[in-house]
Amino acid sequence: MLKIPIKKRHVVLVSILVAAGIATGGGVFAMQFYGEQAIAQQASASAKKLKQIDEKIAELKAKKLAEQKAKEEAEQKAKEKAKKEAAARTAAADAALAAQLAGQIVTPTGCAISGAHGNPNNIDVVVNKKNCFNPVNFVPSDLVSYGGYLVSNKIYTNLVGMINAAAAAGKPLGLSSSYRSYSNQVATYNNWVAVNGSTAAADKVSARPGYSEHQTGFAIDVSTSGAVLGDFASTAQYTWMKSHAHKYGFIQRYKAGYESITGYSAEAWHWRYVGKTVATDMKNKGIHTLEQYWNIEGGGY
Ligand code: DAL
Ligand code: ZN
Repeated sequence: MLKIPIKKRHVVLVSILVAAGIATGGGVFAMQFYGEQAIAQQASASAKKLKQIDEKIAELKAKKLAEQKAKEEAEQKAKEKAKKEAAARTAAADAALAAQLAGQIVTPTGCAISGAHGNPNNIDVVVNKKNCFNPVNFVPSDLVSYGGYLVSNKIYTNLVGMINAAAAAGKPLGLSSSYRSYSNQVATYNNWVAVNGSTAAADKVSARPGYSEHQTGFAIDVSTSGAVLGDFASTAQYTWMKSHAHKYGFIQRYKAGYESITGYSAEAWHWRYVGKTVATDMKNKGIHTLEQYWNIEGGGY
């Protein structure tokens, strides 16, 4: 066995310990060094990734903003176009009205009745501020007289039936208006302009020439002694009409609460013949305007 003197043994031991220490320290240092480098690399990769995400978000935001701007611009353009068209329509309607009120026969543009409810000889015709006669001075070919009031022969039997039934129920009814010609409506409308002070005020209660359903021969204004037009609303006759008129094919054409649809203030006195089937169906379904029943545009000019 190799004999190492004690002193030397110490030297060897110390040397081994020093070497081990250096090796361990180096290892730890190397681990620390390479660990830090890996962390630094990871951090740089993460930062790169974050930058890419930020760029993507910014790109999407810009795209969305551009889309929003384009949408707003398109909406603005559509609004301006509609405004211009409405102004042109109003100007054309005003010019037509002025000519009409001066006694000329003028067909306003853009309102001629057409389609399924555009035949003024049929009881399902709808005439309102958006749907006028074409030709504007249309005259029904089947006018007959009821006590001096002209109506279409298509409503005559039921009109007589209703008036007789009302009388039998102790609610005598009379008429204050029925068929009105184009020129008659010129005079009627002019009168309302004079009474109410402006065309805007007249438009609430009277149709312009060429726009009144009185011209079909299917509309009547009912009254009773001492109660014409507005006063009719508080009569027993009006109450009777509300319960029974549908059986004779009549509907109240302009009801309270539906002014924006019909285009007119409520008229308790103005009744329109549409036939028993439609009048009864509307009553049963609780539909209050022809515009809603037939899905036809109404409202203002
Ligand atoms: N008063 C109704 C609306 C007409 O003039 O026809
Ligand atoms: Zn009327």
